[in-house]
Order: sequence, then C-alpha cells, then structure tokens
Amino acid sequence: MAPPPDLMLSIEDIKIAGSKKLPPMAREFYNSGSTTQITVTENTTAYNKYRLRPRVLVDVSTLNLSLNLFNQTFDFPLGISPTGIQAMAHPEGELATSRAAAKRNIPMAVSSFATYPVEEIVNAAREPNPPTPKAEQTPTPESSQPVGIELGRGGRGGHLIQLYTLRSRTLQTQILHRAESAGCKAIFLTADSPVLGVRYNELRNDFRTPPGLSWPMLNLSSEDIQAQTHDSGFMGANSDKHSWAREIPWLRSITNMEIWIKGVLTAEDVLLAREYGCDGVVVSNHGGRQLDGVLATVDALPECVRAAEGKIRVHVDGGIRSGVDVFKALALGAECCWIGRPVIWGLAYDGEKGVSRVLDILYDEFKRCMQLTGCRTLADITPAALARLCPDGTVARL
Ligand SMILES: Cc1cc2nc3c(=O)[nH]c(=O)nc-3n(C[C@H](O)[C@H](O)[C@H](O)COP(=O)(O)O)c2cc1C
Repeated sequence: MAPPPDLMLSIEDIKIAGSKKLPPMAREFYNSGSTTQITVTENTTAYNKYRLRPRVLVDVSTLNLSLNLFNQTFDFPLGISPTGIQAMAHPEGELATSRAAAKRNIPMAVSSFATYPVEEIVNAAREPNPPTPKAEQTPTPESSQPVGIELGRGGRGGHLIQLYTLRSRTLQTQILHRAESAGCKAIFLTADSPVLGVRYNELRNDFRTPPGLSWPMLNLSSEDIQAQTHDSGFMGANSDKHSWAREIPWLRSITNMEIWIKGVLTAEDVLLAREYGCDGVVVSNHGGRQLDGVLATVDALPECVRAAEGKIRVHVDGGIRSGVDVFKALALGAECCWIGRPVIWGLAYDGEKGVSRVLDILYDEFKRCMQLTGCRTLADITPAALARLCPDGTVARL
C-alpha cells in the first residue's frame, strides 16, 4: 500500500506512490530499462559497492553546498536529466518540473521529446511563487532550510536543451535556436542513441504517446505521433554527419550555448570530448534504456574522471536514489549528479508538489550526509570519504 503523504520520506516511497497512479503502459515505459534490465538495476545497486568513511568532531553548523555552473550559482549539486513525455505522468508535465526546479534552484534539462515548448517551460520557472494557502502552511523543519543561496521561483531558472543527433540538420538548428532564444544555457547532446535500445515493454504494449500530447520541439502533433510506435517514430540518425569531427564544430558554428556530451561511459570518449573542446560530459547510459549490459554509471565514473584530468567537467546520472548516492558520486569525482525517473515519480505522485518533495528529500539527505561525514563544503568530499567493498567481504580505502 502507498504510504500517506506525510510519510513520503524517501525516493522509494515516492516511486511506489507515483507508480501506482500510472496506467500500466505508462508505468512500464517510464520504469523499465532495455531487454534484460541488467543495467537499469545495476545503476542503483552499484552504489552499494561503496561505504562511507566519516570524520567526526568537525563543526558542521555552517555548510556550503552551492555549485557554480553555466555562470549561475545553484543550491546543491543536482540537476534534472532530460526525460520525454512528462505530461503522461501529470498534465502539467515539464511546466511543473520547471517550477519545482526553480524553487529548489537547480538546473533542468529539457528533452527534445518534451510535451511543452521550451519557451513555456523556461517561462514557468520565472512565474512568481503562488501564495501558500494558510491551511497548507507548515513550519519548515530545520533540515529543509536552504544553506546555499536560495533564489526560489522567480529566480532565473537554469535550463539546458537536450538534443539528439537527428536526421534533419534543419530541425536540429531550429531546436537550438528556439532553446537559446528562450534562455537555455547549454546543450546536452545525447550521444548514446543513434538508434533506440530494445525495450520489450514498448513492443509488447504497442506503446504510443497518449492522445492529446504533442512534441512541440519536434513540430509533431498528437495525430502525427499517434500514427507511429515510439521505436518507429524515433528520428535519431547514425551517419558520418554525426561523427565527433562533424557534429561538434557544426554545433559550435550555430550556437553560443555550452556543448556537453551526454551518454559517455569510457575514458576514450572523455578524451575525445576534451579534444573537440566540449564543455562537459555526462557519464550516462540513458538510465539503462539503451544498450543493456553496459557499465553502470558509477562504475564508469572513476575512469572518466581520471581521463578528464580536471580539464573538462564530469557529471553523472543513472540510478541515483538518495542524497548518499549523490555524495558517493561526488567522492568519486563527479561535479554534479542528475536524476531522471525520480522526477517522473514525483510528477505522477503529485505534480509540482511531488517533484518538490523529491528534490527536498535529496537535498536534505545530501546535506545530512555531509554533516555526518564531517564535510563542510563540496571540496571536502573526496575519495577519502569512501571505502570499496571487496569480493572477500572486506573493505578497502580508495
Ligand atoms: C522515461 C524516460 C525518458 C527519457 N527521455 C530521454 C530523452 O528524451 N533524452 C535523453 O537524452 N535522455 C532521456 N532519458 C534518459 C535520462 O536523461 C537519464 O539519462 C536517465 O533517466 C537517468 O537515470 P535515472 O532515471 O535512473 O535517474 C529518459 C529516461 C527515461 C526514464
């Protein structure tokens, strides 16, 4: 049974409550990975290979969790990964997500498969906070109070646009120009999807985006997308046009936004991202939705961090389900973590409020983990804070 709202204490609680509200076809679409589900599962379980090494008797009364990114200061090192079709989870979809992200002052990446136009999504973050009805006002627990700078909604928001390597350069250009004019600061070029991964649920359920929803960034109406399956309608491209040598210089020539490569899992590709002057990489396997059996992202992270040598930003997503996971990823060298499904579950559970609850849980857990490990700033979170579980059951310092 789903826990009542005041017992929505963990991301798992929100996953259970949100998933229950979704029709089976939508639930399976959001929650599943590709084929045998190895990677989607391992993304989360791989975090259990690490244990924490806390330092004690540190004054943790004042912390600084804030992160500078895209020339902005965010409240803590978390962002919202691009996920498509959010209005299938809640009618306000990406608008609700954008409001919650702005309120928590963290960045949000907008999928090319968003169900609202990027202009409306960015503007939603700029709306003033609605007054809280008296009946809903509750005292803020100490642990929920922000430690970094809080802009709140009405702050600037911090949006990025996610781009696939599409068959049509014209469409890619159009998406980027719209996003840049709307105020997006960076591109997440999703590099792991020349074709879609095999997702059995979509084939078995003949998954289609529900009637009434469109993909305005791709200029596709509800009728257009109803006419095709998710797989057959995918517009990704795999051609020489989309090699490192042609894609990155071309992107540079048409936009001033930062260029990040999302979907990197190897040191070799981090080196290429450096060579082509990209601004950052997101170590990601698309939440286990592309090739099943690839490395869990937290397992790929150390080699990517080593290859980066501090010369390119390294972020990570996939399977992050607690503030302790965020802490572990930072200790392994990530600058910032991103989450996909937890936001969908928050939306399904209770729209904007549900997403806010997800972000507040992760903020509180991360802050408390810093306090209990004796870290006062993000720079204090180093490999020394972790030990790795060995196959013989012992642990070893990194
Ligand atoms: C339902 C769903 C839709 C997604 N859509 C996109 C997308 O449009 N573009 C993209 O680059 N990644 C997409 N992703 C991958 C996410 O950006 C992210 O890499 C992944 O969800 C992170 O893993 P997590 O869900 O375990 O947090 C999607 C993921 C899910 C679950």
